Amino acid sequence: MEKRGWKIVTNDITTLMFGIEDASYMAQNIVIAAESLGLGTCYLGSPIWAMDKISKKYNLPKRVVPFVQITIGHPAEDPPSRPRYPMEFTVFEDTYPKELDIDRAMKEMDEGYLGQKYYKNAGFMINPEPLKEEEHTFENYGWTEHISRKLGLWMGDTEEQKALLKERGFDI
Ligand SMILES: Cc1cc2nc3c(=O)[nH]c(=O)nc-3n(C[C@H](O)[C@H](O)[C@H](O)COP(=O)(O)O)c2cc1C
Repeated sequence: MEKRGWKIVTNDITTLMFGIEDASYMAQNIVIAAESLGLGTCYLGSPIWAMDKISKKYNLPKRVVPFVQITIGHPAEDPPSRPRYPMEFTVFEDTYPKELDIDRAMKEMDEGYLGQKYYKNAGFMINPEPLKEEEHTFENYGWTEHISRKLGLWMGDTEEQKALLKERGFDI
């Protein structure tokens, strides 16, 4: 734009959201391409709170914000597919449904994860501080509790996130 004599007027939230769209589509393509070659992948959500460290490590210039990290490699395991939300909770035609049986979706997800011993086998649990004994068991730790703890415990401070973005050159 500078070379063409333009000044950017689009605000930083909008440009950032464009960027998130672009990065998301790209990331999914990377994963699909890798999988088609028999490789395994794992998205990492960490750039959201580690964008400063990642940017430093890879010498990212200002206004380049890392949003996804993806590990790619030859899989050492062939785990079963994880439980999915029933299709009617994820695919809608023309309009979002007026009512969804959330309890049923939660039940299916939790029973599926507990049945696979997913978190127990992974040895992974988000723990509230201070640790409460009854919450520190894998027997009732399913997907819905995992996600609730994530959003119920992490990154409560808007300013912290804004500061990370500001450091990358985005004034939100
Ligand atoms: C936005 C996003 C962030 C993710 N972050 C992580 C992560 O930090 N660590 C991790 O092990 N997996 C992470 N995942 C991968 C998921 O745990 C899951 O393996 C992946 O979405 C594939 O789904 P599936 O295993 O149900 O097929 C992330 C996935 C998404 C979509």
